[in-house]
Amino acid sequence: MKRSLDESLSRLGLDSLPLYQLHDPYGLTVAEAMGPGGAVPALIDLRDQGVIGAIGIASGTLAQVREYVDTGAFDVVLSHNRYTLATRTAGPLFEAAHALGMTVLNAAPFGGGTLANGDGSFGYRPMPADFAAHVERVRGLADLHGVDLAAAALHFSLRSPLVDATVVGITSTARLDALGPLIDADVPDAFFDAVESLGTPPPGVED
Ligand SMILES: NC(=O)c1ccc[n+]([C@@H]2O[C@H](COP(=O)([O-])OP(=O)(O)OC[C@H]3O[C@@H](n4cnc5c(N)ncnc54)[C@H](OP(=O)(O)O)[C@@H]3O)[C@@H](O)[C@H]2O)c1
Repeated sequence: MKRSLDESLSRLGLDSLPLYQLHDPYGLTVAEAMGPGGAVPALIDLRDQGVIGAIGIASGTLAQVREYVDTGAFDVVLSHNRYTLATRTAGPLFEAAHALGMTVLNAAPFGGGTLANGDGSFGYRPMPADFAAHVERVRGLADLHGVDLAAAALHFSLRSPLVDATVVGITSTARLDALGPLIDADVPDAFFDAVESLGTPPPGVED
């Protein structure tokens, strides 16, 4: 962790960072990360020294992230693709994080692109048929209500009391320029009510 932080600080030309996150820790168990000499004690040490302002857990499987959150050691949680207009599986995780006073970052509000650019995958993988049908029903409701699906997907996250900040992927300056109008778009409550009336989304592709 310390070597990684040194590399980040040197590339950025900074002495400290406001937030540093344990990112995709798939290769180690939560017990290993939390134990003596593990990644999390190293992060806590760096936070105590003031080199890092806050520490975050930035994904892994949903079950792993929940375990990390429940340790109470982190200030921030980031989850991606699991709390969108078409998915809700991170809802309980975000509730638990807020109950602990953590900041919630909701990444990939477009499911990696699908809800904005019509890409056929969701969360970087092909969609199961029942989930794809659900996405089409959501798309149909957007058409019915005259709502731009990308704006609706963004506003789903922006308006959620469970989300403190939304992390959108930007591939070009044109995409960045398009973000302002999406934020300014008016997405009526009636549309979100109609989406809720579809019921719990079928499992997507997220783990
Ligand atoms: N483990 C982790 O910590 C983790 C994992 C995943 C993501 N993240 C974070 O979450 C961020 C977002 O993830 P993401 O980029 O995969 O997903 P996303 O925000 O759901 O989707 C971004 C994609 O949507 C498309 N898009 C954006 N604005 C658009 C617009 N106005 N109109 C049409 N299409 C638009 C772009 O695709 P095109 O421009 O290619 O069409 C863009 O690549 C990442 O940058 C990263 O910071 C973190």
